[in-house]
Amino acid sequence: MFEQLQPAPPDAILGLTEAFRKDARPEKINLTVGVYKDASGQTPILRCVKEAEKRLLESESSKSYLGIDGIPEYGRLVRELLWGPQHEIVTSSRAVTLQTPGGTGALRVAGDFLHKLFPSAKIWCSQPTWANHPGVFKAAGLTVETYPYFDPERNSLKFDALIEALQQIPAGDVICLHACCHNPTGVDPTPEQWKQIADVVQERGILPLVDFAYQGFGVGFDEDAAGLRELSRPGMELIVASSFSKNFGLYCERVGALTVVAASAETAQTALSQLKICVRTNYSNPPYHGGGIVATVLQDAELRSTWEQEVATMRDRINGMRKLFADTMAQKTSARDFSFIKNQHGMFSQSGLTPEQVDRLREDYAIYIVRNGRINVAGMTEDNMERLCDAIASVL
Ligand code: LMR
Repeated sequence: MFEQLQPAPPDAILGLTEAFRKDARPEKINLTVGVYKDASGQTPILRCVKEAEKRLLESESSKSYLGIDGIPEYGRLVRELLWGPQHEIVTSSRAVTLQTPGGTGALRVAGDFLHKLFPSAKIWCSQPTWANHPGVFKAAGLTVETYPYFDPERNSLKFDALIEALQQIPAGDVICLHACCHNPTGVDPTPEQWKQIADVVQERGILPLVDFAYQGFGVGFDEDAAGLRELSRPGMELIVASSFSKNFGLYCERVGALTVVAASAETAQTALSQLKICVRTNYSNPPYHGGGIVATVLQDAELRSTWEQEVATMRDRINGMRKLFADTMAQKTSARDFSFIKNQHGMFSQSGLTPEQVDRLREDYAIYIVRNGRINVAGMTEDNMERLCDAIASVL
């Protein structure tokens, strides 16, 4: 049977990481996958995570299965992080949360749930979006459409076109929105623009699916949730896929959450019963370790404060690299103005480099960038900046 198989293309992002690992050139630079690096180019384990792991190791008494929805207190902790403890969604019990294997796991469960229970609903993704969004949703059986988002001429949000497109989306369809630190562009709506987006979404009866993979990496934990909270109006339904890969540095532990907000607590429980079937028939129940770490940190005042400081340090370093990159590029070339990179949020920037320029950077300089021109700013360091900017200047 297997002899009939045709080879599949490598993954647009992780395929490049594989190629990077095999590259023997010592000066190589990896700006592909969204992984944070510190000033020395390492992806550190956060101090709060190490301490939580120590406590878990001492207190764990069993390796029995978790429930299908994960660690019991996990959902409440995630919802409090998303909305703050006093928000009506948190106090009214009209939201349910499942611990999932990463944000991707949350997106896939959401996709399965939507396709199974709302088979005619299409999902609308921003143009461009994270390279894996269409793949995950299509694998779940959903039809994927796109709405305009990014203006590459101005390196900004195409806000009017976005609103016009939303006004055409049929009621009952789903819109996938990036809560903050838009991947791949780094361009987010302002709080006022979020309000207008939420107005249209509400008026038209579109279901928002908010992908929240970078809480804390943009401006701050609450500021980054501004769009989500604008969409969380009384009675409004929505879905949130959270990832703790980046803000806890728990990439390989695969820890995230899927939260479904219904109009009432009773409906939320009905949705949970359906979501549990999607999980049970997929991976049965989630792995413990990453969720145990997140729950331990979020519940402990001291660990939580360490975590918040550590996230602020990562955010500040990325913003410092944005500035250093723009300033260094300005010294190297007048062929292109990169100052826009200073105003973007999160790990990524849409650099405007063409696939051919990206290929030359990889082949001639061992610099790896996603072929759509997305740069992981968090992979830049003071040590690799000169070489990176010289190489980019030479391919422009
Ligand atoms: C990315 O966009 O690089 C990250 O979200 C990691 C991934 O799984 O693609």
